[in-house]
Amino acid sequence: MRMTFLRLSRAATAGLVAAAALTAAAHPAEAADTLGSAAAGQGRYFGTAVAASHLDEADYVSTLNREFTSATPENEMKWDATEPSRGNFTFGAADQVVNHARSQGMDVRGHTLVWHSQLPSWVGGLGAADLRTAMNNHIDSVMGHYKGRIHSWDVVNEAFQDGGSGARRSSPFQDKLGDGFIEEAFRTARAADPAAKLCYNDYNTDGVNAKSTAVYNMVKDFKSRGVPIDCVGFQGHFNSASPVPSDFQANLQRFADLGVDVQLTELDIEGSGTAQADSYARVVRACLAVDRCTGITVWGVTDKYSWRSSGTPLLFDGDYDEKPAYDAVLSALGGSGGGDDGGGPGDGTASCTATYTRTADWSSGYNGRVTITAGSEPIGSWATTVTFTSPQQVQATWNATATWGGNVMTARPSWNGSLAAGASTSFGFTVAKNGSDAAPAVGACTAS
Ligand code: XIL
Repeated sequence: MRMTFLRLSRAATAGLVAAAALTAAAHPAEAADTLGSAAAGQGRYFGTAVAASHLDEADYVSTLNREFTSATPENEMKWDATEPSRGNFTFGAADQVVNHARSQGMDVRGHTLVWHSQLPSWVGGLGAADLRTAMNNHIDSVMGHYKGRIHSWDVVNEAFQDGGSGARRSSPFQDKLGDGFIEEAFRTARAADPAAKLCYNDYNTDGVNAKSTAVYNMVKDFKSRGVPIDCVGFQGHFNSASPVPSDFQANLQRFADLGVDVQLTELDIEGSGTAQADSYARVVRACLAVDRCTGITVWGVTDKYSWRSSGTPLLFDGDYDEKPAYDAVLSALGGSGGGDDGGGPGDGTASCTATYTRTADWSSGYNGRVTITAGSEPIGSWATTVTFTSPQQVQATWNATATWGGNVMTARPSWNGSLAAGASTSFGFTVAKNGSDAAPAVGACTAS
């Protein structure tokens, strides 16, 4: 049976949860019934990546506010968003996420200051001395803007290579400033907001391997020399090719033993049903078994907006129904769920939607992408039309089989017909404009 907690403001709920946690032993039946409250009962936060663009969707916001006690802006704090040209700082979208989260009493993870990706091209064009100044100024300015409002910052993200070398990844920072850029970034960050916990964050570092050992050695060196570092973030992007490693807990523990907190920062596990649920439960249990594992962030609220949407890697499906993975996480956190265990409305009607985006544009042509998203039931196939304006000509299509009637293309799956409820796939095309810049019109999506 699902308990109803009073839906107070997040701040009030946090207080309630703290009180509930203290009395949990006396009232074991009062197990928490949300991810955030259950995690709070274990002294941890439970967070999600948040996109500012979805904050106008009622179901997104109600799920976010109800379940999560921490928020990480998914893209809004990255360099290309916050300093698109040198010295021109733009915080609008990040402010939206931070203000929303703080108004709900959530903690905020800052993500991320120094990263090779989503880095505007002007940064890569600087010489070493200028780059050093720009890096430190970026850290100062972004951290300064949010000073006192960020729980933990991913100061440096993904600075090590994959594979067996344990080497640093090539980036403007690495290539021009050398190994010392990470230390410099952390020292600058400490001065910019002394209250924020400073994390190094990476992926493929979840198990004991050459890459995680290289990070481990860096953290050990930092701790021995007094370079400020408080936490290590483990992204935790898992799928069948990169499953939850058997030594995940041992790896978290060896970092914790260096005297830093560990955080699971971007967890998502592709799959469905009990297999996905079991993997999630293992990850949660590993965190709970490590005293210094202070919280878990999943990389999105709902499968439909996941960066890996086709892998349905999150805890809520496209209709915001709780998946088996949600129940497994809640139960691993010691909470009680089960009243709304998902599965969708179950009306048996296959349905889908099709949405269009222009993904690239140049003077004589453009690329388009149509995303097909299954409704609340799984689908076996889909079809949609795309009507182009004459004299445009489609030069190539991918991930769909196209048939033509005049300037109307009917697109059907090539390999990607079967979609779980709420899951998405996409197909694309390259168009020669031949003088017309008109956007194509996407017709209704039909599913079977
Ligand atoms: C991803 C976002 O989820 C996407 O929306 C964006 O297009 C690319 O970046 N590691 C990270 C995150 O540290 O910032 C990435 O987020 C996922 C991988």
